[in-house]
Amino acid sequence: VFAQNIITIDATAAKTTINKNIYGHFAEHLGRCIYDGFYVGEANKTIPNTDGVRNDIIAALKKLKIPNLRWPGGCFADTYHWKDGVGPKDKRPSIVNTNWGYVTEDNSFGTNDFLNMCELLGTEPYLSGNVGTGTVQEMLDWMQYTNFDSKSPMSDMRRQNGRDKPWNVKYWGIGNETYGCGGHMTAEYYAGMYRQYVSFMRNDGKNNLSFVAAGAKNDDYHWTETLMKGVPLYMLDGIAMHHYSYVDWEKKGSASVFNETQYFKTMKQAVWMEELVARHSAIMNKYDPKKKVGLVVDEWGGWYDVEPNTNPGFLYQQNTMRDAMIAGVTLNVFNNHADRVRMANLAQCVNVLQAVILTDKEKMILTPSYHVMEMYNVHQNAKLLPLTIQTNKYVLGDGKLPAVSASASIDANLAAHISLVNIDAKKTQKTTVNLKGRKFSTVTGRILTSKRVQDCNSFEEPDKVQPVIFKDVSLNGSMLTVSLPPFSLVVLELK
Ligand code: AHR
Repeated sequence: VFAQNIITIDATAAKTTINKNIYGHFAEHLGRCIYDGFYVGEANKTIPNTDGVRNDIIAALKKLKIPNLRWPGGCFADTYHWKDGVGPKDKRPSIVNTNWGYVTEDNSFGTNDFLNMCELLGTEPYLSGNVGTGTVQEMLDWMQYTNFDSKSPMSDMRRQNGRDKPWNVKYWGIGNETYGCGGHMTAEYYAGMYRQYVSFMRNDGKNNLSFVAAGAKNDDYHWTETLMKGVPLYMLDGIAMHHYSYVDWEKKGSASVFNETQYFKTMKQAVWMEELVARHSAIMNKYDPKKKVGLVVDEWGGWYDVEPNTNPGFLYQQNTMRDAMIAGVTLNVFNNHADRVRMANLAQCVNVLQAVILTDKEKMILTPSYHVMEMYNVHQNAKLLPLTIQTNKYVLGDGKLPAVSASASIDANLAAHISLVNIDAKKTQKTTVNLKGRKFSTVTGRILTSKRVQDCNSFEEPDKVQPVIFKDVSLNGSMLTVSLPPFSLVVLELK
């Protein structure tokens, strides 16, 4: 056991850009994410909105600099027929959301609504296409509707629906969880489906499109290998992978009432992301040594029991310092693997699973996960500074996890940022950081922590957990000394 954690950063080795899309989000037609979340309807006079989308959510997400937003699912995507969600709202047919609570949706939030909202947010849309119950033609039509400028049946329909210029959607997911809710396919069968879809989708006239294959659940390495082997590289821009952190799938437990054992088990799942990313990447390296294809972790986050007295199909849960720890550790993994991880999407943005925003009628709160995403956004499009880390273990019973995780980057103005997470629920972790190759003269920082790891923001106490100035750091020549309290997250800036 080291008395101290030791991190060594080579400040001259900046090479790989941390794709800002790693900081992406996910908005599914699930529970109160879209309806009674993002979207409250144009007729709503009590909650300020733009075309029915809450202004407070737009402002909060703009501050986060969300680079992309995945929609409309999730499992929902493979039941969604986009044509039902365009045109006059009073004429749109309804849809029963068979994945999430069997609620009937009126389709009042559809393609125009979503893509216009992305423009308001200044974010790239990432559309998840329907492979499960859709057709190649339906997806092609969708692309013509969203992307084609000249005259065509679908661009004419778009114009009729009030939108002249195309939105030019770049990111297209070809199905979702096709191993499960997206069709229970084998990897081999889906690889063929993927080839078929993408054969016909390179026709927006510009070919500036990015296609993401539905990927593996956790450690299904066979899935990734089958796609890498079975799909020509020119047809493939990304392969997805999904990994959630939970105590135990059958017995997830409350989001905000949990003991240290449950905390530890959740963190074990979060820490597992390092191995998952490394091993999926190693498979991809075999077939794609030049790293054309990105690993797209388009669903990740904590998953617990729903809050008492809420619809079990709506996946509404609180968000505590435990979630902040999941986010910090996971984003450090993605940053450190930025050569392969090009996009990721926290599940989900508003009122579902590890949400950054929760709403209750006209009220809106920002969760600890929101604050992590905001603190880490300094890494977006910065150059990764590779690091090595020797860390103490966070020990509980027979279990051992690395206590400290870190990632670092240098931005265009040559400011360096180091994000440090101490997941140890009880011990402060003293950490030294050796900065090799570049002199910095000042260090400043912010910390996110709280009295209890179960602490969260609530509608009664919205600012209980929020970042504050961090003082427990000193810079001595090329040596930083930092003291990280239990379950804390620190982002430092060096100039
Ligand atoms: O994010 C909730 C669900 O989790 C998604 O719909 C699905 O893709 C995954 O299983």
